[in-house]
Amino acid sequence: MSDLKEISMKCEPPGPEAQKIMDRDKRFMATTNKVMPVVAKRGKGMYVEDVDGNVYLDFQSGIAVNNLGHCPPKVVKAAQQQLENLIHFPGILLSQNLEGALAEELSGIVPGNFTKKTYFSCTGCNTIDTAIKVARWSTGRPRNLAFFGCFHGKSIGAMSLTASRTNYRKGFMPEMPGVIHAPYAYCYRCPYKMEYPSCDVYCAKFIDEEILSKFIPPEEVAAFFVEAIQGEGGYIVPPKAWHKEIRKMTEKYGILWVADEVQSGIGRTGKWFGVEHFDVVPDITCIAKGIASGLPMSACVFNEKYDIKQPGAHATTFAGNPVTSAAALATLKTIKEEKLLDNATKMGDLLLKRENELKDKYEIIGDVRGIGLMTAVEIVKDKKSKKMDMETRNKIVNSCLKKGLLILFCGPSSIRIIPALNCNHEHIDKAMEIFEAEVKKVQAECKASCGTV
Ligand SMILES: Cc1ncc(COP(=O)(O)O)c(C=O)c1O
Repeated sequence: MSDLKEISMKCEPPGPEAQKIMDRDKRFMATTNKVMPVVAKRGKGMYVEDVDGNVYLDFQSGIAVNNLGHCPPKVVKAAQQQLENLIHFPGILLSQNLEGALAEELSGIVPGNFTKKTYFSCTGCNTIDTAIKVARWSTGRPRNLAFFGCFHGKSIGAMSLTASRTNYRKGFMPEMPGVIHAPYAYCYRCPYKMEYPSCDVYCAKFIDEEILSKFIPPEEVAAFFVEAIQGEGGYIVPPKAWHKEIRKMTEKYGILWVADEVQSGIGRTGKWFGVEHFDVVPDITCIAKGIASGLPMSACVFNEKYDIKQPGAHATTFAGNPVTSAAALATLKTIKEEKLLDNATKMGDLLLKRENELKDKYEIIGDVRGIGLMTAVEIVKDKKSKKMDMETRNKIVNSCLKKGLLILFCGPSSIRIIPALNCNHEHIDKAMEIFEAEVKKVQAECKASCGTV
């Protein structure tokens, strides 16, 4: 079988083999949100081949999981070796070498000049639930605050924080009690119709002046859950002053600051963690997605003073599994050895520059946002009205897919463009060439059919 090195479209997806598999899945798998007709067979580096032989350039990275591309050789080797030595040994009761080694590594890269401890688990929402428990246990407080537009996962605990779509909540009540939400700093669509910097980050100050003064006693709030850059909500980058104001507020009231780095962590923004761009240090950092290059692993890393000093009070059977720990250690080592934080910064600057050039050229690109390789463009009816345009956004994503470029929906009308950290100029050139052609085509179609642009 030849290496996957370039886009090659043999038929319009879904091809016949893909269709058979999708029909079977529809019959036997619970309803999910599978909205793209790609049935993958194998992946290598930046490319994925589907079951009909189509080869795609992958700028989705498995929703920010395949940060080293598909099947990175050093991670594959580490996991294979571990599979032959020891697959599972229950970390709840006994020890093996790798989970502690990984906790030590994380302690070195997670922000904060203090000793840290880690609980491992398997998914993003597991690590958020862990943070809820760590914050409750160590503060003795019952409430939490999160932000509109945020996504923290879909377990009952994480879902109660999530506020990016009503259908994540609909039909699942009762939720975890004691959660309140405040507006995030979405400057392109300021909820208060103000402008930064003249607003003086009013959206952050509102929390103290209104919510914590008139509504919720701050001494009952255990934690603020904050995404450094809001992910599913639309890749929204708040001003540094917003993060600083929020951090100041949590310190004032003894509230813990939980950084949800599930999507923005492990190098995606060109630093190990998104919060590092904002000069704020969290009390608790939640990590998942890219940590083990696609093997299921997550970690909740916190200041040791918040450790739940009650043996057995919190744990899960698969936590710190030897194979996933080996993959995670190899992932972190590869990022360091191959200087991928630097590459993500350089390639991210290039990608954002190219996206901004397109924004200047096309009326339907309202905003371009991001840091490093965590980038998104927001699609609008036109620049003046800024009206969100989900239909046109979907058309662009699907049109790119047919041309062999995988990009991803994000929020109501944005598109995530998130290649692996080891992507190069040629990948970005190719992706932007396809993206521009499809934006141009879809914009022309919109103009012809509804005359809006
Ligand atoms: C910021 C953030 N937090 C938490 C989660 C939940 O992770 P998981 O889907 O692994 O439960 C996600 C998933 O997209 C996320 O983006």
